[in-house]
Amino acid sequence: MKEVLITGGSRGIGKAIANQLSTGYKVYAPSSKELDVRDSASIDSYLKQCGSLHALVCNAGIYYENPIAKHDADEFSKVLDLNLTGAFRSVQQALPLLSSGSHIILMGSVSAYGNAGAPAYAASKAGMTAMMKSLAPELAQLGITINLVSPGWVRTDMAQTLLPSEQAQTMATAGSLLKRFIEPQEVAELVEFLISDKANAISGEVINIDAGLMV
Ligand SMILES: NC(=O)c1ccc[n+]([C@@H]2O[C@H](COP(=O)([O-])OP(=O)(O)OC[C@H]3O[C@@H](n4cnc5c(N)ncnc54)[C@H](OP(=O)(O)O)[C@@H]3O)[C@@H](O)[C@H]2O)c1
Repeated sequence: MKEVLITGGSRGIGKAIANQLSTGYKVYAPSSKELDVRDSASIDSYLKQCGSLHALVCNAGIYYENPIAKHDADEFSKVLDLNLTGAFRSVQQALPLLSSGSHIILMGSVSAYGNAGAPAYAASKAGMTAMMKSLAPELAQLGITINLVSPGWVRTDMAQTLLPSEQAQTMATAGSLLKRFIEPQEVAELVEFLISDKANAISGEVINIDAGLMV
């Protein structure tokens, strides 16, 4: 059975991807305790149990916001280290397990275009987009595709914490054409397509799934 590794697979979007893929693939969906993307040794240790990987989904991420006066520079670095460098470490360290026909998905965000109050988060997601486009040519020579999925508001713990009230949720989604949240399952189905043979001709792309937010 083809194997897939999803970082941050314990909750939210990562867990939905794990569930979606569980019938067709052997899925590794570690929590941050099992695979901490901030820690190269933790990644290496976890990878020992994996065989050759059909796909790597770099999904682990955290959100942080604060007005600039209170936006601690250490917190800024921590967000970049986890979201952006964590994805880089994951790709670099898993690469020996990937081969021609394998796929890499990075979990970006529409915040890459700017997110008021969250410059570190936005920068980390913009960085992931630039990193994906920079890695795509090199990976193509190995027959590996890499794409970035860029969601709008997805109904997970992260969104629930940021938008606790129904009013806040309505306001947040009002700017999208479809005026609604995206379900984790919908992101999972997109990832399933992108790691299938049907998507073998797609690489180096940012694919928005945002209910029409960025139109
Ligand atoms: N929800 C949204 O509206 C939205 C929109 C756009 C993009 N995204 C992106 O989608 C991804 C998943 O978001 P989500 O909404 O599903 O978030 P979530 O519900 O908060 O889940 C976050 C996941 O990341 C894992 N994680 C956190 N720190 C980690 C670390 N150091 N090492 C490895 N894994 C770690 C968590 O694992 P533990 O629980 O084990 O700590 C958890 O599985 C993130 O990259 C996020 O930026 C989310």
